[in-house]
Amino acid sequence: MKLRIFLLLSTLSFVLFLAITLISSRLPSPMPEKAVAGKIVWQRNNCISCHTLFGHGGYKADDLTHITAKEKSSYLINYLVQPPVMRPNKYTHHPALDEADAKNLVQYLEFVHTIPTLGWPPLLDNGSENL
Ligand code: HEC
Repeated sequence: MKLRIFLLLSTLSFVLFLAITLISSRLPSPMPEKAVAGKIVWQRNNCISCHTLFGHGGYKADDLTHITAKEKSSYLINYLVQPPVMRPNKYTHHPALDEADAKNLVQYLEFVHTIPTLGWPPLLDNGSENL
């Protein structure tokens, strides 16, 4: 009797597991397609080596979690396509992207901005971001 119940419950759990796996694999991604492409650009160009998202990454440059709230997307795309010469004695040029990659990347940053971060990055006493 115990064995039968055990087998029944195991089979039920397995079927439930399979069903949930199949259903969830078919759910639409919450991330727009262009943002997914932008995430790949972000990873391929190793932007995280200097910038942080949600506080993770390199501390050489600004946190970009909410950059799209501060800057217009046209500014960001221009910045990435034609990056300015950087501060002396640091790096010669900011990494550049082609226009399609830059547009996708900005879509990714816009998506990142919509993720609730409970106030990250924290603000300094004077109200500016602590970067
Ligand atoms: C070698 C380090 C480094 C890498 C790699 C890097 N950045 Fe930057 N980035 C910087 C620095 C430093 C600044 C600030 C430049 C300044 O203040 O003059 C900056 C500035 C920016 C800005 C402008 C922020 C603003 O407030 O105007 C954006 C947007 C940006 N980076 C995006 C990216 C993206 C996207 C990538 C990947 C393709 C990337 N960065 C890779 C160092 C880097």
